[in-house]
Amino acid sequence: MEHMNLDDKICYCYHVPLRKLVSYARREKLQRASQMSQCLGAGTGCGWCIPILKRIFDQSIAERIANSTVETDMVPMTPEEYEAARSSYLKSTDKNTF
Ligand code: FES
Repeated sequence: MEHMNLDDKICYCYHVPLRKLVSYARREKLQRASQMSQCLGAGTGCGWCIPILKRIFDQSIAERIANSTVETDMVPMTPEEYEAARSSYLKSTDKNTF
């Protein structure tokens, strides 16, 4: 199967390529998937690309955890941000499962 390349466009509304989104998520150490929209407005048009933006965000969190050397790095946010993130989680329909 042919995959996309890093230079292929993910957000068509704002012409944002995969490469830009991946490096943005890595560099900015984002706390929430919605912050991906700060990368050139990605996801703020028709919304088509949002599931991919979420995946890019999730991958950046997974990388941070995998690269962490101390236990506290496993939760890459402050206690306040962690609590706030739970509030949005509780409102969303997408629930975590083991
Ligand atoms: S394709 Fe990204 S918002 Fe429309």
